[in-house]
Amino acid sequence: MSAKNPSYYVTTPIYYVNDAPHIGHAYTSVAADVLARFKRLDGYDVFFLTGTDEHGQKIERSAEKAGVSPKEYVDGFAEKFKALSTLLNLSDDHFIRTTSPTHHACAKAIWTRLVTRGHIYKGHYAGWYAVRDEAFYNEKELVNGKAPTGADVEWVEEESYFFNLSQWQEPLLEFYANNPDFMGPQSRRNEVVKFVEGGLRDLSVSRSTFGWGVPVPGDEVHVMYVWLDALTNYLTALGFPDENAPLYKEHWPNVVHLVGKDILRFHAVYWPAFLMAAGISPPKRLFAHGWWTNEGQKISKSLGNTIDPHALVATYGLDQVRYFMMREIPFGGDGDFSDAAIRRRTNSDLANDFGNLSQRVLSFVAKHAGAVVPTPGDFHPEDKALLAQIEPFLKETRAAIDQQALSRYCEILWTGIAEANRYVDAAAPWSLRKTDTARMETVLYVLMEVLRRIAILAQPITPGACAKILDQLSVPEDRRSFAFLDKALTPGVVLPTPEGVFPRLENQ
Ligand code: MSP
Repeated sequence: MSAKNPSYYVTTPIYYVNDAPHIGHAYTSVAADVLARFKRLDGYDVFFLTGTDEHGQKIERSAEKAGVSPKEYVDGFAEKFKALSTLLNLSDDHFIRTTSPTHHACAKAIWTRLVTRGHIYKGHYAGWYAVRDEAFYNEKELVNGKAPTGADVEWVEEESYFFNLSQWQEPLLEFYANNPDFMGPQSRRNEVVKFVEGGLRDLSVSRSTFGWGVPVPGDEVHVMYVWLDALTNYLTALGFPDENAPLYKEHWPNVVHLVGKDILRFHAVYWPAFLMAAGISPPKRLFAHGWWTNEGQKISKSLGNTIDPHALVATYGLDQVRYFMMREIPFGGDGDFSDAAIRRRTNSDLANDFGNLSQRVLSFVAKHAGAVVPTPGDFHPEDKALLAQIEPFLKETRAAIDQQALSRYCEILWTGIAEANRYVDAAAPWSLRKTDTARMETVLYVLMEVLRRIAILAQPITPGACAKILDQLSVPEDRRSFAFLDKALTPGVVLPTPEGVFPRLENQ
């Protein structure tokens, strides 16, 4: 793409490879994919990054337990996460692995900068550590002898390097105040500000009692704390430490990090502090989404109720899963995954509303209007009203996407679908066929136009089904970006045989 397109850089967290991919991973990845696809269709030069977080004590111990070397262990799981991208039809531009040599080089470069600029010093750590969270906790934070997250903690005493996080309280508060859009949703922002206002302690940024990590430059008894290593992945992928790397120059100023609420603190506090200390601008935007429960229960390996994305796609279909995850809960809030809920959404929003609109219009045109794009006459007020309702959708969905309001984005489009279904019922082309075929052609044309616009705008959520609808409307593949929204269908163009796009799921 040419340099004059605006840039958009979206990232998922990099996933720990100690576990098979589950719905939590699928959720962030699909959300990031929707943002990336939307921005590409809107003319942006997009870079969409996902990948795996492969170091740390958690991974080292899991490998030991599995009786294989950490390297063998992470290689196996990295493949499973790559397969997740394929399963979910993600449009990621790069898949990063923190065990790669380029990532090691980037993490070391950041470390060296922090040392050179006087932000890292050597000391001794004595405190609690939760391997599951890969996080340090102080005595006060513990709840019944466990981490506030419920993770087991263990006492750690070792030589360690520290980052002078305590010095960054004021700069961070100033940064949040000057950048009100840095973090969403608002409720989470308030939590983070409160936490920083409470004071920050220097952060241990190396470990010296195990070895699976990026070696600390000049002191290889230590490996870098896995979160410092992991966060720098967002720079590695752009070619950092080469500050003239085109990807870095173009995309770093436009980054949007999507994360789950559990890892907000690492991204909202540590990450901007590391970056400011290294002389790099903090991220532009960070959005924390909520957590899914399964049929009302917290999802956890020990309860044995994790949700496998492969099983979901096999049971419900990919576009159905993508739509459900984006539509069911306002992005940022928590929500419940249940078989009944996904069946309800699939049958009502997809099969009855979107699918039925497409099917009834296209099969009618195939049977009764010569299987070509109809020729419209003058538009009646009701035609104009329907088209006028759809008109602001690009502006409205853009605003929703820029706030990561993904369920709002779906809602906007589905109000158009509902209105179009009401219009078909009222205009009754099946009656017009006998009384006024010219008017029938106008009605069908208006409906196909509405369908075309909505299918173009919905491509990021349900890419498979929208591609089929646009094929059936004979919209060429190179005329499906938002720049073509105003390029109406040409009467007389031959249409292929229509077929249903969203089958109903039978209740089990
Ligand atoms: N490796 C770190 C991230 C480093 S980013 C520099 C990590 N990995 S993770 O694999 O444990 O988690 C990845 C994401 O999955 C997190 O954003 C987390 O919020 C999300 N989820 C895990 N379980 C989830 C649900 N039940 N529901 C929704 N998302 C959840 O953390």
